[in-house]
Amino acid sequence: QVKPEIQVFANAEALTQAAAAEFVQQAHQAIQARGRFTIALSGGSTPKSLYALLATQPWRNQIPWNQIHFFWGDERHVPPSDPSNNFRMTQEQLLFQVPIPQENVYRIKAENPDAKAAAAEYEQDLRQFFQLQEHQFPRFDLVLLGMGANGHTASLFPGTDAVHEQTRLVVAPWVEELNSYRITLTPPVINNAVEILFFVTGAEKATTLKAVLEGQYQPDRLPAQIISPTQGRVMWMIDQAAAHLLET
Ligand code: 6PG
Repeated sequence: QVKPEIQVFANAEALTQAAAAEFVQQAHQAIQARGRFTIALSGGSTPKSLYALLATQPWRNQIPWNQIHFFWGDERHVPPSDPSNNFRMTQEQLLFQVPIPQENVYRIKAENPDAKAAAAEYEQDLRQFFQLQEHQFPRFDLVLLGMGANGHTASLFPGTDAVHEQTRLVVAPWVEELNSYRITLTPPVINNAVEILFFVTGAEKATTLKAVLEGQYQPDRLPAQIISPTQGRVMWMIDQAAAHLLET
């Protein structure tokens, strides 16, 4: 098991600046090594400010936009016209603001009334892009994740089968507490990434964060604990408010 790296920042703003630097560095590394940068984005508040920041200087000019391929780690079961749609948020903050070729954007088609079919379709999209054989998982260069106060990450919610999925790339769990479906990458896909980056901010997450990082392993209650890269690194970028209970 890889030990997570932990970085604590004074506030969300400092964290977002460091996240932008990390994004740029990973993009350059991946492009140098493999000629492209594949990233799975997340929804949530910190990513939202990160996306807005990346669209501004000096970051904007340091990013080879046409060599980046944008995917999503999870999506709400709503069409892009819905303000809670993760793809829509990214479009507003980033994709509309910078020169990204449309064909480099691979969104989850969550407007499909059948969430399971939308998940299957996205799985196909991934298989095709990454040219996967059966039983192979994609290897994203970077996966961005958040963590909810209930310990969920991506759309892996407590008590759902998605947390233990071993074979599928994308699933559509019914999330009782939200009374809706979500569409999400599965743990083996996330854990196969080159780098996984968690953003956690706010005092309301401090207790959960401590339990996830320092407590007993119980991924059914705390799905974020299932995230542990098989051949990559995982970094937790945390603000002081969320980190204040940690021993480290
Ligand atoms: C989403 C996410 C989800 C998110 C957490 C944390 O689409 O909502 O992918 O997993 O990262 O809920 O969200 P916040 O950072 O906004 O608290």
